Amino acid sequence: MDALYLFLFFSIITLRHLPGFCTAVDTITPSQSLSDVNGSTLSSQDGTFELGFFSPGNSQKRFLGIWFKQIPVKSVVWVANRLNPINDSSGVLMIDDLGKLVISSRNSTVVLSANSTGTAQDPVVQLLDTGNLVLRVRNDGDSGTTYLWQSFDYPTDTVLAEMKIGWDLRRGLNRRLTAWKSADDPSPGDFSWGLELHNYPEAVAWKGNQEYFRSGPWNGLRYSGAPEQRPNPLFSFNFVNNENEVYVTFHLKDKSVLSRTILNQSNYAWERYVWSEATRAWKLYTTVPKDYCDKYGLCGAYSNCDVTNLPVCQCLRGFSPKSPEKWNAMDWSGGCTRNKPLECGNRDGFVQFSGLKLPDTTFSWVNRTLDLKECRAKCLLNCSCMAYTHSDISGAGSGCVMWFGDLVDIRHFEDGGQDLYIRMARSALDSKSRHWLKIAVVVIAVLVAASVLLLTCYYIRRWTKQPKEAKINEGEKEPKNESSQEDLELPSFDLATISDATDNFSLNQKLGEGGFGPVYKGTLPDGQPIAVKRLSTISRQGTKEFKNEVKLIAKLQHRNLVKLLGYCIEGEEKMLIYEYMPNRSLDAFIFDGTRGKLLDWANRFNIICGIARGLLYLHQDSRLRIIHRDLKASNVLLDKEMNPKISDFGMARTFGGDQSEGNTNRVVGTYGYMAPEYAIDGLFSVKSDVFSYGILVLEIISGKRNRGLFHSNQNLIGHAWRLYAEGRPLDLIDPCLDGSCILSEVLRCIHLSFLCLQHHPEDRPSMASAVVMLGSESPLPPPKQPGFLIDKNPFEGDSSSSKHEPKSVNEITITVVEAR
Ligand SMILES: *[C@@H]1O[C@H](CO)[C@@H](O)[C@H](O)[C@H]1NC(C)=O
Ligand SMILES: *[C@@H]1O[C@H](CO)[C@@H](O)[C@H](O)[C@H]1NC(C)=O
Ligand SMILES: *[C@@H]1O[C@H](CO)[C@@H](O)[C@H](O)[C@H]1NC(C)=O
Ligand SMILES: *[C@@H]1O[C@H](CO)[C@@H](O)[C@H](O)[C@H]1NC(C)=O
Ligand SMILES: *[C@@H]1O[C@H](CO)[C@@H](O)[C@H](O)[C@H]1NC(C)=O
Ligand SMILES: *[C@@H]1O[C@H](CO)[C@@H](O)[C@H](O)[C@H]1NC(C)=O
Ligand SMILES: *[C@@H]1O[C@H](CO)[C@@H](O)[C@H](O)[C@H]1NC(C)=O
Repeated sequence: MDALYLFLFFSIITLRHLPGFCTAVDTITPSQSLSDVNGSTLSSQDGTFELGFFSPGNSQKRFLGIWFKQIPVKSVVWVANRLNPINDSSGVLMIDDLGKLVISSRNSTVVLSANSTGTAQDPVVQLLDTGNLVLRVRNDGDSGTTYLWQSFDYPTDTVLAEMKIGWDLRRGLNRRLTAWKSADDPSPGDFSWGLELHNYPEAVAWKGNQEYFRSGPWNGLRYSGAPEQRPNPLFSFNFVNNENEVYVTFHLKDKSVLSRTILNQSNYAWERYVWSEATRAWKLYTTVPKDYCDKYGLCGAYSNCDVTNLPVCQCLRGFSPKSPEKWNAMDWSGGCTRNKPLECGNRDGFVQFSGLKLPDTTFSWVNRTLDLKECRAKCLLNCSCMAYTHSDISGAGSGCVMWFGDLVDIRHFEDGGQDLYIRMARSALDSKSRHWLKIAVVVIAVLVAASVLLLTCYYIRRWTKQPKEAKINEGEKEPKNESSQEDLELPSFDLATISDATDNFSLNQKLGEGGFGPVYKGTLPDGQPIAVKRLSTISRQGTKEFKNEVKLIAKLQHRNLVKLLGYCIEGEEKMLIYEYMPNRSLDAFIFDGTRGKLLDWANRFNIICGIARGLLYLHQDSRLRIIHRDLKASNVLLDKEMNPKISDFGMARTFGGDQSEGNTNRVVGTYGYMAPEYAIDGLFSVKSDVFSYGILVLEIISGKRNRGLFHSNQNLIGHAWRLYAEGRPLDLIDPCLDGSCILSEVLRCIHLSFLCLQHHPEDRPSMASAVVMLGSESPLPPPKQPGFLIDKNPFEGDSSSSKHEPKSVNEITITVVEAR
């Protein structure tokens, strides 16, 4: 009865999935082959898998492969001839005269199995329900285990349930996985995964010949590096380690589930998929590496990777960075070294660490019958034994594993990590009790010193009137004697002179288009080069007020501000005459791969500091309180020595004739540089300039514009923040900088920029603090997540922003005047 039912069931499945134009064969025998020309295929008995010839992706080449028969997206799980593609449809899978399984085509023959004549008179090829293609002897009954050849012994990029990955030591067979080169090319890529036969075997993925990530050794329950492998309703795992075999398999608890695990070359990941009938698609179930800490050896020796820490790498207790400079620059690969050297023998002891992924087992030793105490004793006897623990943690734990040499690739898990006992000098152990006393003493000393310092500072401050300025402008020789220049009249030029100087405002002389009108290069009769800003005519100011305002602005003198030489007013024309900057503006350098090389890190750091000082002067040190409102790379000019000079300062004030701070009905600024509160609500303050400064710093470091260069709408802020959060902020650095960087300075600048980019103005530092932060070595406060992580036009959408209508986008300054 059951048999009949089963028979009907299989017939239905087989019939339902029989493609109309192709022919299916049940088995391949010396007299029945599988040919590409007549499109014949071989199905597994239950209809799950199918074997046949196919062309992957856009390729024209033909390969013999196995795929899921019932799934609409062709998901190939095995390829027979990944190194020997066939150029035409002449391929035939057959058993040849010697009983070998071969793929023969017009020009070549690929041999899959060895001779089977002699051992088998009646060989037959079948595709089993597991997806295993086997060559076996027809009459060997149902024992079925003695295959002459099986595809499961030669895996490609996919693991199926029941497939053994690992070693058959008797045959010297190592079943490893290698990713497809690409979706069009099943030949082996450089990404592979397999079991490494150390004394304590572990699973390792390789990128070329570099170790890429370790799943770690099998600890009796799971891979030590895979706490997520805990009991679950879908899969169970089995690890076998004996003198004949070392392998891992997984079993599907529910056989109707379709599952595959692949090595994916395109993102270097080990991905487990489960078929979802509801969505008719593969659902990603797990993927490895799962986070940054899975990167092999990220933190170097004796150091612990913990994704919940920032930075992710921390030396283990009792160890400190081998090279503190590199370590602080977030290059952790040098690892950590002992605070107290080992003394060897009984003079050492062990410290227990918990919640860890066990270190690299390349130099390990295992004895499964020793208990933990014997393990400790044995480890203590050998001076190069650095750690020990249970080799099997199932039950109460058993066995002994010991490590020789440095301990690398340790990470911490919140849940599911293991104990590890690490060798320490006894002096380091004993001093632990005195540790707290020491800390207390240090803390008290620091407190006392700090209060003395504070008091001293307080009195010094009272003595000197402007201590801050003196400190900030340390080393500057700029003219601070504003009073002496106060009486100097700002020269007024007549239109004819300027017109002559600029060739009648010829296009050839045009340097660019600023926020308030075009800028021309000119030469005065005495040969002095000048830059002329011809203001567009939307000012609501009268001529007299304008003149007064310009004279006021002309008094702003700082070596990081462009110098105003004079002005020109005639009829409708209003013009400002500036000193000419031969190197033009910053954007022409940093966003240009070639010219970017002309600015090394020393130049860029000088520019970052110079802009900060110029801005500070505008905000605070000049007698006018100026908010720039349109700070951006194209508004920073460079002189002969590549010193930065801020231009267009005071323009919003002069030209808008508006307020100095508060709410404006006139939004001046550039998308991508505007602070959230300014862009959205029109609120501006010195802190909105600080925000723009933060962006400018990121742009100078990365050589990238804030807007529009990143996938999924992420802007430079978002990109930088992600790198920072992942502990690799240095990946942000412009490749042009190539080796010229002082990493601690770069890191400090990146950190400072995040502080400047805080969403709330009150969380941003003032320019005064920013200048101090740039110049000191003391730690900076940790940044919160910055504002505007995505590249969003603040004028779009339905927020309160609708009152401002954009006139132009991108890098052009927008000026929106609202009708009252
Ligand atoms: C397909 O072609 C091969 C080789 O010519 C032949 O052995 C096989 O019987 C054919 N299959 C069918 C189903 O016709
Ligand atoms: C297919 O063509 C390539 C390049 O022309 C050649 O190297 C390869 O041997 C050919 N393969 C077969 C099976 O003919
Ligand atoms: C394959 O064989 C055909 C016919 O013998 C021949 O014309 C062709 O050049 C061969 N191709 C290669 C790549 O050897
Ligand atoms: C296969 O059989 C042939 C012919 O008997 C013989 O020459 C060859 O050495 C055999 N190969 C193997 C691997 O046994
Ligand atoms: C590999 O990863 C890429 C990118 O995530 C994905 O598009 C592709 O489908 C994956 N390959 C396979 C075979 O699933
Ligand atoms: C493990 O240790 C026990 C007790 O010392 C010893 O008898 C046994 O031979 C050891 N096994 C191995 C594989 O070294
Ligand atoms: C310590 O162990 C290492 C690695 O197993 C071995 O090479 C060395 O000979 C041992 N030293 C002693 C003194 O047993």
